[in-house]
Amino acid sequence: MKAVTWQGKRDITVEEVPDPVIQEPTDAIIKITSSGICGSDLHLYEVFGPFMGKGNILGHEPMGIVQEVGSKVTNIKVGDRVVIPFNISCGKCFMCLQGLQSQCETTQVRDQGTGCALFGFSKLYGEVPGGQAEFLRVPHADYGPIIVPEGPSDDRFVYLSDVLPTAWQAVQYAHIPEGGSVAVFGLGPIGDMATRIAKHLGAGTVIGIDLVPERLARAEAHGVTVLNTNELSDEDLVDAVKQLTDGRGVDAVIDAVGLEAHASPMGKFAQTAAGVLPDTAAAKVFKNAGIDRLDALYHAIDVVRRGGTISIVGVYAGMMDPMPMNTLFDKQIQLRMGQANVKRWIDDILPLLTDDDPLGVDGFATHHMSLDDAPHAYEIFQKKEDGAIKIVLQP
Ligand SMILES: NC(=O)c1ccc[n+]([C@@H]2O[C@H](COP(=O)([O-])OP(=O)(O)OC[C@H]3O[C@@H](n4cnc5c(N)ncnc54)[C@H](O)[C@@H]3O)[C@@H](O)[C@H]2O)c1
Ligand SMILES: [Zn+2]
Ligand SMILES: [Zn+2]
Repeated sequence: MKAVTWQGKRDITVEEVPDPVIQEPTDAIIKITSSGICGSDLHLYEVFGPFMGKGNILGHEPMGIVQEVGSKVTNIKVGDRVVIPFNISCGKCFMCLQGLQSQCETTQVRDQGTGCALFGFSKLYGEVPGGQAEFLRVPHADYGPIIVPEGPSDDRFVYLSDVLPTAWQAVQYAHIPEGGSVAVFGLGPIGDMATRIAKHLGAGTVIGIDLVPERLARAEAHGVTVLNTNELSDEDLVDAVKQLTDGRGVDAVIDAVGLEAHASPMGKFAQTAAGVLPDTAAAKVFKNAGIDRLDALYHAIDVVRRGGTISIVGVYAGMMDPMPMNTLFDKQIQLRMGQANVKRWIDDILPLLTDDDPLGVDGFATHHMSLDDAPHAYEIFQKKEDGAIKIVLQP
């Protein structure tokens, strides 16, 4: 089959690789029909090199048709239309039973000290082959796959794998009071969707912050008040948010940017160092140092009101990132974060994927491209060229 593979920093190729086969009775094989490219894939593309293996198959936002099931898989059958969550979780353990599927104790990657295994996601998360391919082996298919109805196009459902539950969890963790205010940093797919969900769930003031004109315009078109960090000094940004919130700051902030934030010179050196060191050394630096660019998170701390909540959905990876503990403590800021627990939120989201389309999923993708175009797709998504905000690959 064809698959999108990681070959090195900013080096993605489409290769012919062996078709996946059933290995465990709880496996299934899915024929992929659509597979998203995520901001998290860009971390693998750019900075997570020390944890990638040459030839790793990328992708964790797939959907498709069940091709084959193992003997213990009874919840889905050949021919079903399914979306595959990016978490690989068992559904039976202590963590899964309380809706913390991203911490699944059956699939936790213990040799790396990380949470549940993820599709297409580096050695840190189990190095499981991903879904930007023609076929995908799905471990724990007796729990993971989400059956979706026939009829609407894939775009209606594909975001159940990651974007929708991730943005939904970000909003839930933000604890926005009814009619209250939220500022969302980063208007990529996750932040954009978080603004839509926040409005849908009753937020009064929704502020979107980014620096890419098309992304700001798209959020604005959905009724979000937008601020461009490229056009505002740090102080002006804080002032602008305060002006929109009775001088107080927002009730909640969602940080949908993560470790590769633009603009802060801090952390850049260590991050670059991690990129050029020999692999084992780089992996050590990566795990033991504060390598993240914290620009968005620092701004989040500035614009949240006293007693407010910061919900961090963007990925961070440094062990010792410097944090202004005095301000966090003094402002009594609540922090919540983590990898999305995909299955935890599906029952809340599925009823919204109707012809009325309250979250605007049908027109959410800016690009549909073939697997063969994946190298170009990664490039324009990372460089934010050609209006690329969400790209869905279709084998
Ligand atoms: N927690 C999870 O389960 C989970 C799941 C999916 C994605 N993620 C993470 O969420 C983040 C967003 O994902 P995405 O797919 O939307 O990616 P993306 O890269 O398209 O979006 C990031 C956005 O942040 C903007 N940005 C950069 N620096 C900024 C700054 N200083 N201030 C404001 N905006 C800034 C960029 O212009 C871009 O629009 C990534 O870190 C991704 O890894 C987390
Ligand atoms: Zn993702
Ligand atoms: Zn589990």
